[in-house]
Amino acid sequence: MIPDETVERVRESADIVGVIGEYVDLKRQGSDFRGPCPFHQGTGRNFSVSPKKMMYHCFVCGEKGNVFTYLMKRLGVDFPTAVKMVGEKSGIEVIETKSGRADEKDTREPLWEVNGAAVEYFRQTLWEDDLGLNARKYLEEREISRELAEKVGIGFAPREIGLMRAYLNTLGFDDERLIESGLLHLPEGSTEPRPRFRDRLIFPIYDVSGRVVGFGGRLLGPGEPKYLNSAESPVFSKGKLLYGLNWAKQAARRDERMLVVEGYFDAVRLIGAGIESVVAPMGTALTEDQAKLIRRYTDHVYLLYDSDKAGLKATFRSGDELLAQGAAVQVVTLPDGEDPDTYVRTHGARGLESQITSSIDVFERKIQLLERGGWFADLRKKRQALDRLLPTLRATSDSLTRDMYLGHAAHAAGVTRELLERELSAPPRSRTGRTTARSPAPPDQQFPPPEDHGYRDQRPERPLVRQGDRRRVAGERASSAERELIRVLLHRRGYFEQVIERAGEESFRDDDMRRIFAAMALHGADAGPDVLAEHLDGDAVVVMQSLLEETGGLDHADEAVAGSLSAMHERSLTDRMAEIDREMPIASEAQKDELTAEKMKLTEELRRLGGRWWKKFR
Ligand code: GTP
Ligand code: MN
Repeated sequence: MIPDETVERVRESADIVGVIGEYVDLKRQGSDFRGPCPFHQGTGRNFSVSPKKMMYHCFVCGEKGNVFTYLMKRLGVDFPTAVKMVGEKSGIEVIETKSGRADEKDTREPLWEVNGAAVEYFRQTLWEDDLGLNARKYLEEREISRELAEKVGIGFAPREIGLMRAYLNTLGFDDERLIESGLLHLPEGSTEPRPRFRDRLIFPIYDVSGRVVGFGGRLLGPGEPKYLNSAESPVFSKGKLLYGLNWAKQAARRDERMLVVEGYFDAVRLIGAGIESVVAPMGTALTEDQAKLIRRYTDHVYLLYDSDKAGLKATFRSGDELLAQGAAVQVVTLPDGEDPDTYVRTHGARGLESQITSSIDVFERKIQLLERGGWFADLRKKRQALDRLLPTLRATSDSLTRDMYLGHAAHAAGVTRELLERELSAPPRSRTGRTTARSPAPPDQQFPPPEDHGYRDQRPERPLVRQGDRRRVAGERASSAERELIRVLLHRRGYFEQVIERAGEESFRDDDMRRIFAAMALHGADAGPDVLAEHLDGDAVVVMQSLLEETGGLDHADEAVAGSLSAMHERSLTDRMAEIDREMPIASEAQKDELTAEKMKLTEELRRLGGRWWKKFR
């Protein structure tokens, strides 16, 4: 027999459209898929497969069933074989047992078991022990009722180090298992195990089947870290789990949506208010695995992150992951300073639902923020704005959605669709301006060069490639020049005045060099290494020390300073050249003229600077 629980898990995770789609030509129609019925050999698209209901149904011959019955009827296999076939596709191991109990083979069972026992310990400590008094008060202040707390299994881990261990030992869980589960850990050089969670409110974290796989613990008072999660283990993998999914999975199907909030309290508050289609990732942004997990239950996702900088970053990263999985993604923006927890506390479920109603599409939100920030106003910023939109366009897997996004982005930026389409099909750029192609093509095969993005000016193609080469060489030379310049300055402070006239902090790309330079600028030319070190972090101090130890070649400091400065200048010129190439296609006619003029000036300046380089290739 196959344990019921395994069957359920396979059914839950089955991609019915994928399975049946192997045999039937299915096309999307609304939220369902349609194709010719394989049972009565129909030709019309009367056979419907619903990923939401996880069922198929033919309107003509009346055949219906689930993914297992489909395989049994069509392929003539028995039930266990059908379960195994589907399980294989979703990567779930299906093991038949004599008794039909799940726990016979799974090596993770002992950990689920001890975690379950710990939940009961934390629960008792919270509600039935004097040690839980402060935690009870805390929950009362946060307006979490006992009923709600019990529903989600909230408990309390006391400060005392021996109590949980004694309780669980008595139940027959030995220290080895407690340590393996992460509930206890052995501090280095000690034989006395200590609890991971102390003086923390405990949120049990369940997997989709409702097994306790880990815990999140919140400090009652101030302190760091505010939240502590279980360590990664065979049963606990933060990036693959979603807090609340065990409750949300049914609700998400029913409500045809999933809400994503940041924290445990947000999720619990919503559950308490009767909104169960909610999950919280246990870090910041959704991972690919988590996005896939959500997509099993619904394709409508609402993101309810904070609107601060970190929250927005998480919003858009999660958005990209969800778009890649073909979801429709909306952003809910709560009033400043509110999170779903506080908002629902004061405005109730209805208040939140009305905020959800006025949510906007994640891509629209991105454009909206860029517009408000004036990012489409001037050419340089516009180029950067487009570069921020392109990854999302690329990530969007649903072609209709991507097409719509493309139109909006083109409109907002005032460029043509065709241009964006061209940029989309070019390989993505890394932050350094180089492409991130898997295996870099040899230079002479990179036509057009990555910076070019389809744009051609009047020059023949070869010099464009050379320009890319020149930029790379200039970049490499400048990074050793930065280092040499700082080294000389550390030894020969007399040059500082002359350098600061021609270079600023922004001339340095290396973080350590920039910081050392900034420290010199702050303290003047006479400051000794000790004074500089006060303003540097550990890494930069180490770097400075090693530069101070390199004493060679200082007789030629004059040349070293001049050479370094011009190498760094050359880099900034070649970088600007590359920028211009990418701004050109999105520029108006007037702007194009300006860019062309600027480019000619840069070319002239570069020619003067690097005669040697130029001659070699020209
Ligand atoms: P409360 O202050 O209790 O309302 O929590 P919150 O959920 O409003 O706080 P916050 O927005 O700071 O955190 C959201 C989520 O991020 C939490 O539920 C945790 O999952 C996670 N988190 C926050 N702080 C920490 C931390 O210090 N360490 C870890 N590992 N996770 C944290
Ligand atoms: Mn909060």
